[in-house]
Amino acid sequence: MRSKQAGFRGKNMSLADDESAQTEVVDTIEQARSRIRQWKQAGQSIAFVPTMGNLHAGHLALVKAANESGMRTVVSIFVNPKQFGHNEDLDTYPRTFDEDIAALSAYRVDMLFAPDAAEIYPQGADATTSVHVRGLSDMLEGECRPGFFIGVATVVNILFNVIEPDVAWFGEKDYQQLLVIRKMVQDMALPIAIKSVPTVREGDGLAMSSRNSYLTDQQRKLAVNLYACLQHVVDQIIQGVDYTYAVVHANQELTEAGFLTDYIVVRRQEDLGVPGKHDKSLIVLGAARLDGTRLIDNIPFELMK
Ligand code: PAF
Repeated sequence: MRSKQAGFRGKNMSLADDESAQTEVVDTIEQARSRIRQWKQAGQSIAFVPTMGNLHAGHLALVKAANESGMRTVVSIFVNPKQFGHNEDLDTYPRTFDEDIAALSAYRVDMLFAPDAAEIYPQGADATTSVHVRGLSDMLEGECRPGFFIGVATVVNILFNVIEPDVAWFGEKDYQQLLVIRKMVQDMALPIAIKSVPTVREGDGLAMSSRNSYLTDQQRKLAVNLYACLQHVVDQIIQGVDYTYAVVHANQELTEAGFLTDYIVVRRQEDLGVPGKHDKSLIVLGAARLDGTRLIDNIPFELMK
């Protein structure tokens, strides 16, 4: 069992001068609940950042935003088996707990919840009651990765029930996931504000992702083409090019660059519906594979009213 004070020193302490300067690392629901109860009884609010670990600057931007809310900051690290398909990378997904702790030490993290699969799914992931956010879960990523959003919505719902956050932070890199969580919270009347942070990118524009570590040097150089193609689609649409043409063209460009494209689409930001001619808040989303590595990205944009 992992339950200790990790001794993090936060740089950004709005809850200074109490035990919050130390990060408590817990791995059971009971331990997490007992600490949460104390905070709630003291009238404190909780900002939550759920992750699967292998933390990069995108995750840390979420932790920073949570810190800035002035609430207790709780981070979770749990590689959720229920959101991986049978042919996917659950076994090889990067697990870097010690490096993650080191990365978090630059922030104020009041509790790090790092359960194992048996704690979250005592009956097994497949036997657990599932949360299916209908419609939104069944398109795009949901079509390419059947069951993925059921796994995400289920685990986030469990984590929300344990942590009982007032606010939870998600990255816009996983835009469809963000909308799925927002809809779940709305449909289930959960009293949690869902907030987001824009995608954090490498210097050349590649969206930060734990799966970037799978790329060879050669593939890493090619990977930026996904972002470049999406940006090209945005530029063309803003110049008045029909989006169906821009998308077909981007698909060709990506194929020529060596990708296998799952989709490139232009949708409404609000609900990922197909845009009509009066819709102005749009988003281009893409998913493409470089050999075994699947990359996703998106760029939201506004058309002139
Ligand atoms: O975005 C992620 O890292 C995961 O999908 C999440 C939200 C932590 C659920 O496992």
